[in-house]
Amino acid sequence: MKALVTGGAGFIGSHLVDHLVEQGMEVVVVDDLSMGALHNIKHQDDVTIYVKDVRDGLFMQQMLQEERPDYIYFLAAVASVADSIERPAETHSVNHTAVFQMLEYIRKTEMPIKQFLFTSSAAVYGNLPELPKREDSRVDPLSPYAIDKYATERFVLTYGELYDLPTVCVRFFNVYGPGQNPASPYSGVLSILTDCFENQKPFTLYGDGKQTRDFVYVEDVIQALLLITKREARDQVFNVANGGETSLNSIIQTYEEITGQTLTINQAAGRLGEVKRSVANIGKLVDLGYTTKWSLKDGLTKYWEGA
Ligand code: UD1
Repeated sequence: MKALVTGGAGFIGSHLVDHLVEQGMEVVVVDDLSMGALHNIKHQDDVTIYVKDVRDGLFMQQMLQEERPDYIYFLAAVASVADSIERPAETHSVNHTAVFQMLEYIRKTEMPIKQFLFTSSAAVYGNLPELPKREDSRVDPLSPYAIDKYATERFVLTYGELYDLPTVCVRFFNVYGPGQNPASPYSGVLSILTDCFENQKPFTLYGDGKQTRDFVYVEDVIQALLLITKREARDQVFNVANGGETSLNSIIQTYEEITGQTLTINQAAGRLGEVKRSVANIGKLVDLGYTTKWSLKDGLTKYWEGA
């Protein structure tokens, strides 16, 4: 069996690639290394890697024709709400058009696949009051990022229904762990915090710190993805999260306890297009057999020890 992982040199993608290799899967990676890095992949030598942009339609078609993967994990993305507000057209071309092009190619050529998994985001839920978010909760995408993720989700699932393709979507909540690149101001907050503790840098806190997120350790995310494949889930959406709601203030405090350091905080205005509170109901995943193995404290401790 062969799997294609777009964004396979990125933070979540590289963890997935290593697990797939360890399970005996042949793995092909497409990554432009804009945020990812080849050294993220432990089993680099056992993987076919194309350093390419997923928007390059001609390349993607030729690659699919040649490689003929059974499983496709579409993880390539510009993964930031704030970045999508700065660069809406650019992020749209990656987060939407590239996925759409691939679906079209699969449909037109009737390429046989066992699963097409698209990685969407909790950002689609926006700021509606119902919590925790269930997969059938109302959505309210507030940024180009969230709109692209939701629109693409709908395309992926509707293509599945209309053309009988085994498609499935996951909504990642706030994933953290080793390999998350802190280099951009748009990087995930825990990678930035880790960098601040490690290098004694001040941290910029956007807003009052009362905003909440459902932080999930990357190993649990991989567990969820592999389970969704194993159970041959299709035609539906799954929240991928820990199921706990944590404010930024509280996670900073926990991280200070773990590192034994006091963070220097610079206060700044809240970011545009932001979700105020976010927490998932993970019942659907649990029904598949998922159990959260990493509490926030354990995950952060492990992350810090490896930093
Ligand atoms: C994150 C993910 C996104 C995912 C979504 C799902 C990243 C970069 N973004 O978006 O891909 O789809 O979760 O919920 O991983 N913050 C600061 N200071 C900083 C950086 C961030 O205060 O230097 C704040 C932000 O304003 C925000 C919170 O921390 O309130 C989390 O921000 P961030 O890690 O960028 O994630 P989301 O926007 O939640």
